[in-house]
Amino acid sequence: MCSIIIPLKTAKGGIIMIEKRKVVIVGAGFVGMSMAYSVLNQGGVEELVLIDIDQNKTQGEAMDLSHGLPYAPQRMEIKAGDYEDCKDASVIVITAGLNQKPGQSRLDLTVANAKIVKDITEKIMASGFNGIIVVASNPVDVMTYVVAKVSGLPKGRVFGSGTVLDTARLRYLIADYLEISSKNVHAYILGEHGDSSLVPWEHCYVGCKRMLDIMKDNNLPTEDLKKIHDGVWKAAYEIIEKKRATYYGIGLALNRIVKAILNDENAILTVSTYLNDQYGQSDIYIGVPAIINSSGIKELLELKLNSEDQAKLDKSCNMLKQIIQNDLKDII
Ligand code: LAC
Repeated sequence: MCSIIIPLKTAKGGIIMIEKRKVVIVGAGFVGMSMAYSVLNQGGVEELVLIDIDQNKTQGEAMDLSHGLPYAPQRMEIKAGDYEDCKDASVIVITAGLNQKPGQSRLDLTVANAKIVKDITEKIMASGFNGIIVVASNPVDVMTYVVAKVSGLPKGRVFGSGTVLDTARLRYLIADYLEISSKNVHAYILGEHGDSSLVPWEHCYVGCKRMLDIMKDNNLPTEDLKKIHDGVWKAAYEIIEKKRATYYGIGLALNRIVKAILNDENAILTVSTYLNDQYGQSDIYIGVPAIINSSGIKELLELKLNSEDQAKLDKSCNMLKQIIQNDLKDII
């Protein structure tokens, strides 16, 4: 496979060389394979490598996906690999780890998954990898912190899926509530990918009209906004109760993030990114609107939050900092 050099302009005019559109997925479980299936169907990746502790499974998954290539939008090399394959990858997506059992919170997975993602990150970096890492393992904000610390990569090149899926759920529920296309809903979930997330409703638009004005002009009860947000943060619990795991939504969300990187989109996505005094918070990874391009995080699109929303974001950040302080001290 000849590698093509795609010189891409970054925000500041610098040139980021995407050697080739090579993506590695670590973790061939439901989430990793849902992302892989999304990549196959949407195209845009030249080489897709699957890594998992169960090499038999990754070989089977690579074969199964490859057999669909004749019906896929473009050719792609799909293979079961190992950590040497990380060296020349542009993007690595870490999905490995335990997932929530019914009734379990994502934060309950912290210690077990921190050890797993630390080990994975060490193996990735030993390969000489120098690209972008996207973390999906839960609790994703805390796992992103672990991967960033262990990898030592520049801050903008390690980030998590954050509230990209929560934001999709929010848009879906608002669209369903108003009977409009979700493509015209511009609303974002901020904070932890979990129970303490928040919706800055003042910054929520449907088309070019503020959501709050739509509610007022149509005499819609504002408590419906709370019901919509409840539907977002409770979604995973309900799905896991019914089918034991969630994976299609996050698989598509991860592919959305990777496409923003490979296509140098400057897309605004609420990934779990490092705060360095934005929103008055520092040394934490959390979901906020960030501009994503081929260099990773180009910059944050910082919102002006009212005091109520700022307090909710502070609570989310402080809760995560507590977890990091208590649960990670013997791990990283
Ligand atoms: C969910 C998982 C990805 O929210 O945390 O479905």
